[in-house]
Amino acid sequence: MAFERISDLGDLSGKRALVRVDLNVPMQGGIVTDDTRLQAVKPTVDAVIAAGGRCVLLAHFGRPKGQIVPEMSLRPVVPALAEVLGRPVGFNLLGEVLSNENVIVLENTRFEAGEEKNDSELASRYAALGDVYINDAFSCAHRAHASTEALARLLPAAAGETMGAELAALDNALGTPKPPVVAVVGGAKVSSKLAVLENLVTRVDHLIIGGGMANTFLYAQGVDVGASLCEKDLKETALAILANAEKAGCQVHLPVDVVVAKEFKTNAENKTVAIDDVASDEMILDAGPETVTMLCKVLESADTLVWNGPMGAFEMEPFDQATVALAQKAASLTEKGALLSVAGGGDTVAALAHAGAKNSFTHISTAGGAFLEWMEGRVLPGVEALTS
Ligand code: 3PG
Repeated sequence: MAFERISDLGDLSGKRALVRVDLNVPMQGGIVTDDTRLQAVKPTVDAVIAAGGRCVLLAHFGRPKGQIVPEMSLRPVVPALAEVLGRPVGFNLLGEVLSNENVIVLENTRFEAGEEKNDSELASRYAALGDVYINDAFSCAHRAHASTEALARLLPAAAGETMGAELAALDNALGTPKPPVVAVVGGAKVSSKLAVLENLVTRVDHLIIGGGMANTFLYAQGVDVGASLCEKDLKETALAILANAEKAGCQVHLPVDVVVAKEFKTNAENKTVAIDDVASDEMILDAGPETVTMLCKVLESADTLVWNGPMGAFEMEPFDQATVALAQKAASLTEKGALLSVAGGGDTVAALAHAGAKNSFTHISTAGGAFLEWMEGRVLPGVEALTS
């Protein structure tokens, strides 16, 4: 997908860029507890300022739904952002005369009733504040909102540095990937990732299904999953996905052995059993070692990996082992240059960090909903509005 970059916007000296960023950061007691998204803002701000321009940052925080909710003000994020950027950052409400700093944060876009309606009048009010528009928030690109979509149509528009890098990495993973491509899809429920599974079976060579959602597929194939989490009403859907995979030449991999327990808690008494030996009062909480060995071979055979969702109840030891082993395998193959690996989604990033594998992946997306919609094969409105 061809889209404009900052360098395509011409001479920025003396110009003001409206930059859509994601400042929807985790906060506790008014303090930012993870500055990953703030770090992501820096390359574009530095590039605009190096080109002689200034930045007005547009962003949302929480879901105030067009109301002014004081606890959702972006004001408390400003000091942390200034520290990360290493420069003064101003703060203004929409409608105020902009202050003098080279970087200004505008108050929560979702305090405006028109924001989530993609209102063109609101977009015009934003547009009046700048000369060019840069979208650097891939994680918000699945929203057709005034600051992510309508505004991009009113000014010369480009993808920012972080957004550009993200789109390039995602294109390498699913757009024009080097085959064989393997996708790992895990997590609790098939129902939350139906469209992802349906899209992937037509796009990848291997689909590894893990976590609670594997139980639904096993159940559909006639396996007794005991007391495990399982969406029995999705039996036919699961069978249809498997049939489509076969038709498309996608090999689906499900656990052949599993770790089971009678209680859903950390360090619950557990054992490893073959997939046909789950007792009626046992829950499957992780994939077993035979499965891990099998899946590691699949990773070894692949050139490209896309990962979303854990393989088991990774937040409760010892049910993190399959996720950790597979993540470490992917990390070491990536480090050797044998695999291009892309992962995304909140749980996934936490699982890979827990495995000490996060920094070795080729690309980690911090986007949640946007990453999933991209895995569903959807065109994201905030990205489409940037295409040339
Ligand atoms: C996120 O946190 O994933 C993004 O900021 C998007 O937030 P939203 O789901 O409230 O649109």
